Amino acid sequence: MGKGFTVWFTGLSGSGKTTLAERLHQLLKDREHKVELLDGDVVRTNLSKGLGFSKEDRDTNIRRIGFVCELLTRNDVVAIAAAISPYREIRDEVRAKVGNFVEVFCSCPIDVLTERDVKGLYAKALKGEIKNFTGVSDPYEEPLTPEVVVETDKETIEESLGKIVNRLEAFGYLDRASVGVG
Ligand code: ADX
Repeated sequence: MGKGFTVWFTGLSGSGKTTLAERLHQLLKDREHKVELLDGDVVRTNLSKGLGFSKEDRDTNIRRIGFVCELLTRNDVVAIAAAISPYREIRDEVRAKVGNFVEVFCSCPIDVLTERDVKGLYAKALKGEIKNFTGVSDPYEEPLTPEVVVETDKETIEESLGKIVNRLEAFGYLDRASVGVG
């Protein structure tokens, strides 16, 4: 049942991509969609094992994730990707290949991320212990016209998830649920 599409989360480390992607994954499973989640941190332990964080390696990582999303989407599976995917050009390349593509920009100011620093990586990056860290010493190119923007420093998880589901319903990818977002 249902047609395939890709929900592509992009944003800085700690901006909420994985949290929202996992919640959306569960919600779609509950609604009996066939759905797969491709999380950057997980992909880097298998499909992209050995890749680093140079522009070239990041582009390779994103193209690989995009390729899998393309295969899933054309077989009527929902693909959810959650990777920083810092370069606009590569995201747009994936968008063009996939077709049914919904880009969700997880927006959160860098000072909030630095303060939260769940993984302790921003502190290390600021001390120069991690080189080429996105948002600190490496670029992040915000999407210009994403289908959804969630402001994860201002919204609750439920609010952000609700925004995404509403957009998916508005695009006709999901049937409208009779109650709430779940
Ligand atoms: S991407 O740039 O290729 O899209 P991806 O989402 O797969 O990145 O991986 C990002 C994760 O790798 C971060 O959440 C963080 O835990 C870790 N990481 C390690 N080094 C870096 C770095 N230099 N820049 C960004 N993230 C890094």
